[in-house]
Amino acid sequence: MPHEELRVLVFGASRRQGSLNATLAELAARTAENAGAIVDRASMDDFDAPSYDGDDEAAGRVPDGIHELRRRLEANDAFIIASPEYNGSMCGALKNVIDWTSRFRPQPFDERHGLLLSASPSMAGGNRGLCALRVPFEHLGARIFPDMFSLAAAHRGLVDGRIADEALGARFDKTVRAFLSLAEAAKHYPCIKRAWVEFLGEPPGQGADRVDPVVEHGA
Ligand SMILES: Cc1cc2nc3c(=O)[nH]c(=O)nc-3n(C[C@H](O)[C@H](O)[C@H](O)COP(=O)(O)O)c2cc1C
Repeated sequence: MPHEELRVLVFGASRRQGSLNATLAELAARTAENAGAIVDRASMDDFDAPSYDGDDEAAGRVPDGIHELRRRLEANDAFIIASPEYNGSMCGALKNVIDWTSRFRPQPFDERHGLLLSASPSMAGGNRGLCALRVPFEHLGARIFPDMFSLAAAHRGLVDGRIADEALGARFDKTVRAFLSLAEAAKHYPCIKRAWVEFLGEPPGQGADRVDPVVEHGA
């Protein structure tokens, strides 16, 4: 699985050379390819953008990197992001591109499936950052997979692009494949999609500054 065509955007959210999260993202990309998905590899450099500025937006000056993220999201069915944790939360550069990208209509994260990963030298593996990262994505209607994967002591745990610990490696593989399975079901078997995925956030529409899928997608 997936048995049907599934396109997945994969990137690490760190711009650092030798990034642990870029390595984990690449491992996720290879795992997804082995599972039959079509992978679109990206990097944060592709989505580079100055801090969100409402005046720039109003003047039509949306950064090229943000147009690129929108294009890549729309060209794919799902996304996998490996993101560092900074000071117990999500990394600011990623939140900035989420904020910019959320201004497009239709809003590109809405109803798109996402898997969140992290790698850190710490013993928590950056998991608090992922808990924080879920919030804006779910606010935007993204279907964030319940399981996340955080690799602790990643400076020792990633060896030659692989997770050295066999049991952890198997858990990683299982998590990526389970995510792809759900995204495949949502794309190709919409009759069961409603039963598997239910969005319990605030109702969209006027006053909530979120896209109303019924109005904007005509669904
Ligand atoms: C500003 C800053 C804050 C950080 N805060 C945390 C943190 O709260 N938790 C953590 O696990 N690691 C933290 N780190 C360490 C990062 O996890 C580590 O630098 C990691 O390698 C960054 O990801 P990368 O290798 O993909 O660039 C922090 C690093 C920086 C630069």
